[in-house]
Amino acid sequence: MIQKSFVMMKPDAVQRRLMGKILARFEDKGLQIVACKLIQIDEDLAKTHYGEHAEKPFFPSLVEYITSSPCLAMVIQGEEAITTIRKLVGATNPLEADLGTIRGDFGMDTGRNIIHASDAPESAEREIALFFNEDEICDYKIIDNDLIY
Ligand code: PPS
Repeated sequence: MIQKSFVMMKPDAVQRRLMGKILARFEDKGLQIVACKLIQIDEDLAKTHYGEHAEKPFFPSLVEYITSSPCLAMVIQGEEAITTIRKLVGATNPLEADLGTIRGDFGMDTGRNIIHASDAPESAEREIALFFNEDEICDYKIIDNDLIY
């Protein structure tokens, strides 16, 4: 099943100039970037995006971190994209994430864990709509898809 997922490189990934390396991991896997933009998230958007965690003790520091500098917001498409991307991203705590995953290779701290990826089809749909207008998502055909699927 071809799915779209919302993926966002967080301020630490942008500040550490890791965007190109991380983007390459998704492309190398065979996934397709169908939308991509740098965005300075404001407090309202941060609180909406992470609304389900509003009561958690880490919520204020999460909002402060995510609004501290631009993020790279993306929509990434592919077969079973949501699960595939979560595997590529690795566990929330970078110290527990397997080596070879993005967080396992680039992160050291849960509060600076490099990247966000939707955890389910419902959250992907909600998050994509929160960050992108429909006309910002490109529905283009990849000509060598026969080599991937
Ligand atoms: S929970 O409690 O299991 O529901 O939370 P979890 O799914 O692990 O994390 C939810 C998001 O909050 C981020 N997070 C943190 N940010 C800053 N500091 C601390 N201590 C912290 N703990 C969790 C975590 O990375 C999740 O964000 P995303 O962007 O979805 O990865």
